[in-house]
Amino acid sequence: MTTISPSFSPAEAVPEKDGLIHGVSAEELQVLGEQCFDAKTRAYCPYSLFRVGASLLLSPSVTLTPIPTSTATTYPASHIITGGNVENASYPVGTCAERVAMGTAVLAGYRSGSFKAVGVTTDIADFCSPCGMCRQFLREFLALDTPIFMFNKEGKWIVRTMGELLPLSFGPDVLPPREEMRKAQEEDKAKVA
Ligand code: THU
Repeated sequence: MTTISPSFSPAEAVPEKDGLIHGVSAEELQVLGEQCFDAKTRAYCPYSLFRVGASLLLSPSVTLTPIPTSTATTYPASHIITGGNVENASYPVGTCAERVAMGTAVLAGYRSGSFKAVGVTTDIADFCSPCGMCRQFLREFLALDTPIFMFNKEGKWIVRTMGELLPLSFGPDVLPPREEMRKAQEEDKAKVA
């Protein structure tokens, strides 16, 4: 399905360095936007009617079997993975667009270090940011400085890093090695015995 992509522009001052925004070029940002808008058209949301599209820009250095997406535009389709929200008649079972996209990426073999940026869009004039559950889900695989671009329905966007959206977060790097934990617990048990 092809959608009419709006032209994308920032809604507030952005941190630009060497013509890049958090390391993302204008071309990459265009594709990130186009692809989340396109994914939104494929969302399954008959209950809320609130369509959400998400796109994940893969780091160019990451090479895995390309995953075909429905619309290849100006950027190799293999560098983008998308998702839309998938709802369910049993309401809490529904899944957000961001988790559908990240789950797809993980099943395709991508892991931490694979992702350069995230795009999210909806049908509202406001900037919809990933829900709390999605923030934690994304945190598992994104570096804390990964930019998350939030596009409104007109294509205006704001950007925040993963770390800004989820400060003082709990992630895989926080967990000590299991052996260390086991040893500490055994020592603890020995003390009370
Ligand atoms: N939704 C997302 O897909 N992502 C978010 O970050 C916020 C909410 C979906 C869930 C549900 O299908 C619909 O939007 C309304 O909450």
